Amino acid sequence: AEIVIVPSAAAAGVLVADEIVKLIAARPDAVLGLATGSTPLSVYEALRPRVEGVDLSRVRGFALDEYVGIDPNHPESYRSVITKEVVEPLGLDPALIRTPDGALETIAHAGEDYERAIAAAGGIDLQILGIGTSGHIGFNEPGSSFASRTRVKTLIEQTRQDNARFFDRVEDVPMHCITQGLGTILEAKHLFLLAFGEGKAAAIAGAVEGPVTSSLPGSAIQLHPHVTVVVDEAAAADLA
Ligand code: F6R
Repeated sequence: AEIVIVPSAAAAGVLVADEIVKLIAARPDAVLGLATGSTPLSVYEALRPRVEGVDLSRVRGFALDEYVGIDPNHPESYRSVITKEVVEPLGLDPALIRTPDGALETIAHAGEDYERAIAAAGGIDLQILGIGTSGHIGFNEPGSSFASRTRVKTLIEQTRQDNARFFDRVEDVPMHCITQGLGTILEAKHLFLLAFGEGKAAAIAGAVEGPVTSSLPGSAIQLHPHVTVVVDEAAAADLA
């Protein structure tokens, strides 16, 4: 992987946003892989001024994951987050931006449906990734198969604790999610893995330099030919 150490999350946002702008200039119907959580927010912020006057009407997008059994209108559903942080501020066509369907009634085939939609779009051109303190990318918790596709997973306790800040209480964090698999993520053409802060240092060192192991799902990036890791000094601290 190419490792870029930046002074701040804001600088990382600019770097990745510039890549996205270049991609869309070359390919107005580019397919973006969107992450949620705190990490990608600087990218979405940096995009706003950079896409003014750019025709984004054909840009397509796929979120990495969604909670299962959460009302899509709940403010912390990833559908709501993507709408609020990406679709609305950038003026994207909501019909072209997908999130996995976490509804219980259709969950049995939601993974396959999502995989089919990604394939029909011709695959993801540029995938933004954060990393969990557990080493997860998407919500592929430790033990996830490198061949996995979009499917339901159980969030581990550590992840629910990490994400409790978005909810009133940790008990309110859903137990299950539907996430692109590691196999799905590895098929995106260019991966950007972002991480900021000392809490991510161990996960980043493991992902970039550790053994390739499903115990640290982020290490799957070592199997991908085109990865850019963008980290601040604190998240880079455990790199050799
Ligand atoms: C989000 C996702 C997760 C997060 C990770 C880090 O769509 O798939 O892998 O990227 O949990 O979360 P933050 O950025 O909130 O530290």
